[in-house]
Amino acid sequence: MTGGHLQIVVCGAGPTTDVAHLVHAAHAQTWTAAVTATPNATDFLNVPAIEELTGTAVRSSYQASPGNRRSLPAPDALVIAPATYNSINKIALGLADNYAMTTVAELIGRRVPTVIVPFANTALAARLPFRHAVESLRNEGIHVLLGPEHDWEPHPPGSGNDRQRTFPWATAFEIAARHAG
Ligand SMILES: Cc1cc2nc3c(=O)[nH]c(=O)nc-3n(C[C@H](O)[C@H](O)[C@H](O)COP(=O)(O)O)c2cc1C
Repeated sequence: MTGGHLQIVVCGAGPTTDVAHLVHAAHAQTWTAAVTATPNATDFLNVPAIEELTGTAVRSSYQASPGNRRSLPAPDALVIAPATYNSINKIALGLADNYAMTTVAELIGRRVPTVIVPFANTALAARLPFRHAVESLRNEGIHVLLGPEHDWEPHPPGSGNDRQRTFPWATAFEIAARHAG
């Protein structure tokens, strides 16, 4: 499918700094993209640069801003990347305690094709709540890129900077686009 609209949600983890790679992947296939950030993700994001690249205001709260007045197309796909341990657990439980999580809850409920790319270390990923969350999200039809079949595994604690360089932005978009429309 070409020409869709991609909703991106970023969380508070290092790869958020590089989300432009995902926007470029979408633009290369003639998609438009908009970025929504959790409140913690804004510390990792160059907001003006992303707004210039997408042509759309980065949203992280319910507060209206002049750039938010233009209505956006309905998304054809949703990519949550990087998805933190915290947000993955919240999404699986259906929590909607900030603007980004509310957006995610609604889009999943509307059956918009959704891809989640976790960025969690092995200690966090070993927790039972996290493993249950991943299983539950998959049972809901969400594509969670995690495990050997996706060549994307949790990294040892303290090695996030190295792992960030191989973050699978292009794969995340390909899977989203494949399931859209
Ligand atoms: C510098 C820094 C790096 C972090 N990296 C990660 C990470 O890679 N994965 C993760 O799950 N949490 C990471 N965290 C912790 C999350 O930011 C924290 O759990 C936060 O509550 C997540 O909020 P969010 O899920 O609403 O974005 C990091 C925190 C800081 C300050």
